[in-house]
Amino acid sequence: MISSRALYQRATRHVPGGVHSNTRFQAPHPTYFARAEGAHLWDVEGNRYLDCTMGNGSVLLGHAHPQVDDAVCAAVRSGLTTGVETEAAVVAAELMARIIPDFGKVRFANTGTEALMHALAIARHRTGREKVAKAEGSYHGWFDPLWVSTWATAEQVGPAERPAAPPSSAGLSKVAADTVVLPYNDLDATERLLREHAAELAAVVVEPVLIDIGFIPATAEYLAMLRALTTELGIVLIFDELLTGFRLAPGGARQVYGIVPDLTTYGKALANGYPIAAVEGAAELMAATDPSAGGPVGWVGTYNGHGTAVAATAAALPLLADGTAQGYLDKLGERLREGFGELAGRHGIPVVLAGAGGHFQPYFLPAPATGYRTAMASDARRYAILHKTAREHGVLLPAKPLLHAALSTAHTEDDVDLLLGAAAEAFATMERET
Ligand SMILES: Cc1ncc(COP(=O)(O)O)c(C=O)c1O
Repeated sequence: MISSRALYQRATRHVPGGVHSNTRFQAPHPTYFARAEGAHLWDVEGNRYLDCTMGNGSVLLGHAHPQVDDAVCAAVRSGLTTGVETEAAVVAAELMARIIPDFGKVRFANTGTEALMHALAIARHRTGREKVAKAEGSYHGWFDPLWVSTWATAEQVGPAERPAAPPSSAGLSKVAADTVVLPYNDLDATERLLREHAAELAAVVVEPVLIDIGFIPATAEYLAMLRALTTELGIVLIFDELLTGFRLAPGGARQVYGIVPDLTTYGKALANGYPIAAVEGAAELMAATDPSAGGPVGWVGTYNGHGTAVAATAAALPLLADGTAQGYLDKLGERLREGFGELAGRHGIPVVLAGAGGHFQPYFLPAPATGYRTAMASDARRYAILHKTAREHGVLLPAKPLLHAALSTAHTEDDVDLLLGAAAEAFATMERET
């Protein structure tokens, strides 16, 4: 019979680690999946799991959503794959313009990493400067200057008010060392660093809520300060809304905070898990990429605006437009938060369940995390107990203690209660072990 273990053994003959994204690796071997529907995944052995990872947060509407899948199947049947423009790509851009407040112009790429590479190119062209600043601990894809200070160790992080920029991978270009790392939610230290490096900084890239290390919202004052200061210093402000977009509100974090950056990157929920990403920004900034006007910043890609991805986008966006989906996710999140709080209190376990828009993250801390340094103090051993117990109850959570879990509109109250049942058992184990 086919098994994950056997597939892993076969895979590793040809594939390092047997996985194509390192976050999927898990000892003793990764799980290999066969199908998905709604809130569930089935592995190759036929085991069913309640999925609380949802395609790294992409699959907001649930797996195999009929409207999205029908649109994708129709795109496949059209015979078109890529390399051409289609009506669906026009519709997708029109829908984004309708949903996102203060929308400028948009161009599509395939991945969040690419979208951020493009956004930085636009910023460098605009400012004539080279460097970028990012928040400590944030993840913005694997492009060299942005892949620093992500999941760094306590030995690597450096002083709190002037964080180090440790590379998150070997093999990065030397430019990565020049990235300015900002202490998230620390207004004074961030302002000092931005003023100090202003003459070299093309862009500040920020996730309005740090979700790749759980769920840590920026304060409204922090984002307002970044908006005002980048304007004053002539730095391009880029919001990375890969995970906040369409989840926190139809118009994403910019709608929630009422702050409009110069450029914004989107992806993930945009196409309910199909591979597309986008850069949106003020029309005069985006004009730098306009081939009809001799825009000098290049924008090319074999798979850009791929027929299946734009069809998925055009089908998903109407389902995200009026706030019903987000309201439902918040209701489920509230049930989870309340249940978690009550159970943790009963067992005397200090834990904060942070989240919104279907994202959630348990921090095993006495108080909410406000940045990477407080988040990294979360008890990883306790998270491992929760992860293992959840899996025994048929619930998949991210294996990494600081990542992000997600619900979808296909999840139900019963699903939340299943997770709460696992949490109760995990808390009891933690109580016994302390
Ligand atoms: C906030 C954020 N930005 C950028 C990226 C990179 O996107 P991709 O994996 O599509 O390259 C991710 C992916 O997890 C992300 O969560």
